[in-house]
Amino acid sequence: MDIEYRSFETKQALYEFICNQIKLMAEETADITAILANVSSLFMLELQDINWAGFYLYKNGKLILGPFQGKPAVAEIAIGSGVCGTAAETLKTQLVEDVHSCCNHITCDMATSSEIVVPILLSEGDLFGVIDIDSPILSRFDTEDQTGLERAAEIISNIAEKIE
Ligand code: SME
Repeated sequence: MDIEYRSFETKQALYEFICNQIKLMAEETADITAILANVSSLFMLELQDINWAGFYLYKNGKLILGPFQGKPAVAEIAIGSGVCGTAAETLKTQLVEDVHSCCNHITCDMATSSEIVVPILLSEGDLFGVIDIDSPILSRFDTEDQTGLERAAEIISNIAEKIE
């Protein structure tokens, strides 16, 4: 099935649309699982050339699989393990151009070639979880994707704090 992607002049405009959509999703429900499920679907629908999009949530000292779109994935990730665990440990975005040359990548889908993982930090600096997006294309993600997804992470952080 060919997906009809919405077209935007710039990546900045695309992420402004995505961030506005996330805010609208949070007006519909106070259930964070439902919101993250819809955000995962939004990422899959609006971001071209991706094969996995979703969340790992920080619970009891590790990352637990949250709402996502894509093939079944590893359910728990230790802090410091894999790209997600590294983002959780460093609290810094991990932009991986080639997962096969990345020392500690955890493979969930053999089709994945590149990945971006963005930590979601609460206002006190505590970790809420991470956004994880995979692509079957090498070097799919750039600093514009990083900026846009870090903005999305801020919005999700604000939503999570209002709900909790
Ligand atoms: N690749 C991730 C694991 C999660 S699957 O991609 C959904 C990692 O290395 O942490």
